[in-house]
Amino acid sequence: MASFLSRKNERADGYGGSPEARVRLPLEVFRAVRERVGPDYCVGCRMLGDEVIEGGSRVEDASFYATRFAEAGMDFLSISKGGKFDDAKQPHVGEAAYPYTGPSGHECMPTVRIGGGTPFGRNLPLSRAIRQSVRLAGFGTPIVGAGGIGTFELAEHALANGDCDYVGAARQSLADPDWWRKLELGRGDEVRRCIFTNYCEGLDQKHRQVTCQLWDRDLAAPDPHSDAIAMSHDGKRRLVPAPWDEVRYRVRFFAWRAKSCA
Ligand SMILES: Cc1cc2nc3c(=O)[nH]c(=O)nc-3n(C[C@H](O)[C@H](O)[C@H](O)COP(=O)(O)O)c2cc1C
Ligand code: SF4
Repeated sequence: MASFLSRKNERADGYGGSPEARVRLPLEVFRAVRERVGPDYCVGCRMLGDEVIEGGSRVEDASFYATRFAEAGMDFLSISKGGKFDDAKQPHVGEAAYPYTGPSGHECMPTVRIGGGTPFGRNLPLSRAIRQSVRLAGFGTPIVGAGGIGTFELAEHALANGDCDYVGAARQSLADPDWWRKLELGRGDEVRRCIFTNYCEGLDQKHRQVTCQLWDRDLAAPDPHSDAIAMSHDGKRRLVPAPWDEVRYRVRFFAWRAKSCA
């Protein structure tokens, strides 16, 4: 679908060459999905706010598409960036190209080494601009902002600032699936913080089971649903994060606080 939305899509069969024609197939797919699942089922889409490739779509194109999606009745729009095959590294013979290996891919999943700023909240200007266009057109469709969001402060600021209506987090949620709950409980000090070095992405690139390098710090911690510790196929990595025992941590915290106050 992203290729159809690209400004590089010059198809002459009615599905390319102009913004209206480029958005046609994604709209047809959405209408077909909606027809199948009915009005009560949440259907939205992930789309690129900027393709970050030469001659590719920019935020103005994305704002137009987003407005058309909102008008069609999508329930949310999640804004990503880059990650294109166009500038991906040439794969080895017999291997598939991986879209996060070129400059546009680096923008999609920015690491701490990314140039031109930091990885933190890097895509929010895109979701903000798209949200403004959708609102100006009279639609209240929720916009999801994502990309380098891994702290309560950044997430809260993005929402308060009008950058987005929802915050999405991929790597931070992989590093610590309980982090949202920890934030809700005001226990941010217990969050296992993503270090944005893309060890997980490297595994995905090689089509290996995706795990987080931080999980291995708790290699021997018991798994929640089995007696054995679940390991990756190569037996070297934890396949699931170490469990977070909400109550146990709370008891430990109160014991620590009682001791410090004594
Ligand atoms: C291992 C891995 C695989 C991903 N695969 C996809 C994908 O298939 N489609 C997609 O839109 N984004 C994919 N992403 C990108 C994330 O959805 C997200 O946009 C990106 O990682 C930036 O957000 P973050 O900083 O919260 O991780 C992937 C991310 C990771 C870490
Ligand atoms: S491996 Fe873990 S810590 Fe590293 S980027 Fe991925 S989620 Fe974050």
